[in-house]
Amino acid sequence: MSEGARNAVSTTARYDFDTVIDRRGTWCVQWDGVADRFGVDGLLPFTISDMDFETAPEVLAALRARLDHGVLGYTTWQQDDFLSAVAHWYGTRYGADLDTGRLVYGPSVLSQLSQLLQMWTSEGEGVVVHTPTYDGFRKAVLGLGRELRGVPLGDTEALERELARADAKVLVLCSPHNPTGRVWTEAELREMAELARRHGAAVISDEIHADFVHDGHVHVPYARIADAAGVGDGGVEAGVRDGGGPAGGRWAVITSASKSFNFPALTGSYGIIGDPADRAEYLRRMETAEGLASPAVLSLTAHIAAYREGAAWLDAVRAYVTGNLAMVAERLDAEFPELAWVPPQAGYLAWIDLRPLGVEEEALQRVLIEREKVAIMPGSVYGAPGFLRLNLGCPRSKAEAGVSALVRGLRTVRA
Ligand SMILES: Cc1ncc(COP(=O)(O)O)c(C=O)c1O
Repeated sequence: MSEGARNAVSTTARYDFDTVIDRRGTWCVQWDGVADRFGVDGLLPFTISDMDFETAPEVLAALRARLDHGVLGYTTWQQDDFLSAVAHWYGTRYGADLDTGRLVYGPSVLSQLSQLLQMWTSEGEGVVVHTPTYDGFRKAVLGLGRELRGVPLGDTEALERELARADAKVLVLCSPHNPTGRVWTEAELREMAELARRHGAAVISDEIHADFVHDGHVHVPYARIADAAGVGDGGVEAGVRDGGGPAGGRWAVITSASKSFNFPALTGSYGIIGDPADRAEYLRRMETAEGLASPAVLSLTAHIAAYREGAAWLDAVRAYVTGNLAMVAERLDAEFPELAWVPPQAGYLAWIDLRPLGVEEEALQRVLIEREKVAIMPGSVYGAPGFLRLNLGCPRSKAEAGVSALVRGLRTVRA
C-alpha cells in the first residue's frame, strides 16, 4: 500500500467505508439499471456518479427524525434553517460571505440548468461547453433545441472563437469539471468570466462537484469571481454579495449537496443568481409554469444536516476515495506506465486516457462486459472515445476488483 493510501485509511477510521452494502434490489440505477446502458444484467458497476456508501450518519439521523414526525406536508425553502446552513457552509468551506437573499431553489441541478437555458437562450442559439462534456449537459442543451458548441478544455482561443459568435448566449462551466476532475484556478475562471462578459454570454457554473476537491487544490466559487470583477462593495473579501457581476455580466451558480453527500435521489438543489431581475424571473417560472413552489422536504432536511454537521464525514469519505485513487494509480503505473495516469483533482471519478495503448473502444467494452463482467463508462459518452470513466466512490475491495478487471481486459484486447 502506498503512503497516500495508508494515510487515507488512518484519517477515515471514524467511519466504515470498507463494508460492502448490497444495493441490488433497491431500484438503483448504478446496479439494478446496469442493463439499460450496458445491455447485460449482473455486471459490477462503475458507472453513473453516485457512491456505494451510505450518506453521512448525521444526515441519516436528521432524516429519521424528520420521518418520525410523520407529517410530510408542503414545505418552504425560504426559511432561516436552510438559508443559514448554506451560508454556514460557504463561510466555513470557502471563506465566502454568502448573501442568502441571492439563493434560489430547484428540484435538481439539471432542472435548474434547463430553466436558466430557457431564460437566457432561444431555440437554435449556441451554448458553449468544454469537451469532454458531462452527458447531462449535452442532453439538456440538445433536448431544448439549442446548439451544443464544444471547446477543448484549456483551449482559450477556441473558447473565445465560440463565444464571439453572435448567437453564443451561454457558457456552461463545470466547476470542478466532470468527467476530468479538473479544478479551475482563480486565474482561469477570471479569464473565462472576462471572455464571456466581453462577448455578452451569460455564465452558468455547475458546482455540484465542488465539495469533493482533493488536497492541494482549491475550489473558487464562481460567485466570488463575478463579484470580484464587479464594482462597489464587490471584491474577494466581500465574497458573494450583490454589487454587479463581471461588469454586469449575467451569471448563475447551480449546485447541491447531493453529489458529495450521496443523496441525489432525494432530489433537491439550489443556486445563486447574480442579477435580482433574473432571480425573480427564475423563481416566478419555478413557482408558476413549473408548479414547483414546495421543495422536497427530505432533501432540505438532508442539506441542513450535511452543511451543519457533515463536514467530518465528507472529509473522511474524500480521504478514503483518495486512497482508492492512489491504489488505481499504483496498479496502472505498474501495468501500463505509458499511461502516466494521475488521479483527478476533484471527485471520485477516474478519467483514464487509454489512447497510448491503442485499444479500440468497442473491442474493450466487449471484453469488459462479456468476459470481465464489469460496467465502466466508455469515453464516447462524454464525446471522448479512447478514454474511460471509472467510478471509485465505493469500498476499496470493489475498486480493486474494478481495476483488476480493467487491467485484465486491457491485456486481452492488446494480445
Ligand atoms: C456536473 C454534474 N451536474 C449535474 C449532475 C446531476 O445533478 P442533479 O441530479 O441534481 O440534476 C451531475 C451528476 O452526475 C453532474 O456530474
